[in-house]
Amino acid sequence: MQLRDIVPWGRSFGEYRAMFALTGADLSGRILGCADGPASFNAEATARGADVVSVDPIYALAAEDIERRIAAVRPEIEAGLHAHRERFVWTHFDGVDELVAARLDSMARFLLDYPGPGASPRYRAARLPDLPFSDGAFDLALVSHLLFSYSDHLDANAHRRAAAELMRVAREVRIFPLVDLQARPSPHLELVCATADAAGRQHRIDPVDYEFQRGGNRMLRLMPPA
Ligand SMILES: C[S@@+](CC[C@H](N)C(=O)[O-])C[C@H]1O[C@@H](n2cnc3c(N)ncnc32)[C@H](O)[C@@H]1O
Repeated sequence: MQLRDIVPWGRSFGEYRAMFALTGADLSGRILGCADGPASFNAEATARGADVVSVDPIYALAAEDIERRIAAVRPEIEAGLHAHRERFVWTHFDGVDELVAARLDSMARFLLDYPGPGASPRYRAARLPDLPFSDGAFDLALVSHLLFSYSDHLDANAHRRAAAELMRVAREVRIFPLVDLQARPSPHLELVCATADAAGRQHRIDPVDYEFQRGGNRMLRLMPPA
């Protein structure tokens, strides 16, 4: 898919759990959902007792404005899915209509939970590479469908700085997927791994039990030294 901008489009808790292979132990720590946008991960994880803070520039907007932006990008996303059906694995979803309905459900769940700019410590308006958190504030930071996905929109330096900032605020960082919007391996993966190595972290690529973009079934883990 070719998208002009980085779009607000949101996935569910179940998808996050699969994309990041989240265990009960992972979910018992302090979690940062970076670039969560209109995903329902925070709402659903919080309902299960998890401690999650989401950070995204769209949280500077009121819920109605986010809803309007979702409605505005939906036609472009639907058209891209129809035009490139062969780039996706249709096992979780039967087709484009079912997928879009599931995404809209997740985003409706988010919109019900989201109280507007500055109204909840669970939703913070900020953007990489400058996050408003102290060093080591989180046990785990999750980044779904921003880094690597938008390799054409965010250059190598943006990826390097984002990785460094995420490692500053979290003990472990997980990023999914490792392919760009056209399902090509991201050209920035090597640099992000090298950034972790230089910071004294271990990096590891794990296969996960989730594949929607063909070939997009691996996550990167940036972990503390052994
Ligand atoms: C495709 S959405 C992914 C939403 C969610 N993570 C998911 O997978 O369902 C990409 C999100 O990245 C956010 N974003 C764009 N630039 C960002 C930045 N520099 N730092 C953090 N988030 C950013 C957008 O506002 C948008 O909500």
